[in-house]
Amino acid sequence: DLADIGVTGLATMGRNLARNLARHGYAVAVHNRSASRTHALVREFGGEGTFVPSEEAADFVASLKRPRRAIIMVKAGAGTDAVIDQLAALMEPGDMIVDGGNAHFEDTRRREAALRERGIHFVGAGISGGEEGALLGPSIMPGGSAESWEALGPILQDIAAKVDGVPCAVHVGPDGAGHFVKMVHNGIEYSDMQLIAESYDLLRQALGATPADLAEVFRGWNRGELDSYLIEITAEVLDQVDAATGRPFVDVVVDRAEQKGTGRWTVQSALELGVPVTGIAEAVFARALSGHPEQRAAARSLAGPSLSGVGAEELVEDVRQALYASKIVAYAQGFDQMAAASREYGWDLDLGAMATIWRGGCIIRAKFLDRIRAAYDADPNLPTLLVDPTFAAALGVAQESWRRVVTTAVRIGVPTPGFSSALAYYDGLRRDRLPAALVQGLRDYFGAHTYLRVDREGAFHTDWPGDRAERPA
Ligand code: 6PG
Repeated sequence: DLADIGVTGLATMGRNLARNLARHGYAVAVHNRSASRTHALVREFGGEGTFVPSEEAADFVASLKRPRRAIIMVKAGAGTDAVIDQLAALMEPGDMIVDGGNAHFEDTRRREAALRERGIHFVGAGISGGEEGALLGPSIMPGGSAESWEALGPILQDIAAKVDGVPCAVHVGPDGAGHFVKMVHNGIEYSDMQLIAESYDLLRQALGATPADLAEVFRGWNRGELDSYLIEITAEVLDQVDAATGRPFVDVVVDRAEQKGTGRWTVQSALELGVPVTGIAEAVFARALSGHPEQRAAARSLAGPSLSGVGAEELVEDVRQALYASKIVAYAQGFDQMAAASREYGWDLDLGAMATIWRGGCIIRAKFLDRIRAAYDADPNLPTLLVDPTFAAALGVAQESWRRVVTTAVRIGVPTPGFSSALAYYDGLRRDRLPAALVQGLRDYFGAHTYLRVDREGAFHTDWPGDRAERPA
């Protein structure tokens, strides 16, 4: 019998996705470059459903029902192109190739265009949720043609996470839209983690709290508006004790944060689009700072404040407020970036729907996303999430705490780039007049770059080296 859908690339993510499909009653064709993985999957999990194993790509493609649906689950990069070429050569017009890896959206746009020429649908699908998500229900962000969504949507919604019965999988938009949204998801993931890390660091330094004490604090926070997967697992990680030394786990881990690159991509794209995603950028740069041990060792001798701790119970609640406010800012920026990309690439993204598919399955899943959905339901043309009445009110409640937190951090010398830059963004957007007017003046002075006036139409230039008279440019 022919398979309903295929998965090629059977490392952890691919294997678990294949098992998820099989558990939902689909006959799943499975293939891997080295056949031992394919056989291991059938041997270990064959009882979970129907698997159709193939050792050769040609047999894999031949084992699929038409139109064929094949999901590629290989490490993103040049390897992806090789697998796509191999499958496409064996396929026919109308068939569908899904790339479930963390591909760069520009690669996805290129691949989609090339395959479209040959009549093959290419679907760049962001899949989030790690190993467990792939098996039990990930959040899925597929981009591609409407026809491919018709054929794939019901299957993807079947295997995706559900929240209140609603699947965390929708058609994001054409070509690279799905991988773009997954990229922004990862950027926001970086920012969420950075803000959590700053909260932990500041409370530990200021209050002299232990990681175990702070695990309790995060557990408490997880019962309120911060309720989310990352806050939940923060408590778990802070509670962990190293078996070898008896010390807190966080104290035996090298403090150098790695990255595979999706956060960096998010910031690169934001620079191109001209969207200030300062929350994500600070998170990427904070990881970069942690990765320079030689500079850090040398800089340890630099002068710091004499003040080291401030014991105040109110600080815990202040930090909770600062974390929530900064999180609102980071998400507002990420959603701005998706809106800008939607305009730039003609994707027609439904921002509220993006919040919905992130409610479950993915790494940034959180109760808070319901509020974002509600904000876009109430006003699809919100200029920024910050001015949605619910978020505006939350920021109003939080802002004094937020300022105290940044002030305290500065006084005792604990770096909080996430909190500080989010607050600067908030204050920047709020300003009636920005000093950008002075920047314009300087640009006109040294480079005759011209400026606009608040009271008249048209561009102007002042003759700075000459009589300093203003003329229309
Ligand atoms: C997910 C994750 C995943 C990502 C890891 C590691 O949505 O399941 O975002 O796709 O690869 O979180 O990312 P970094 O190595 O860049 O931190």
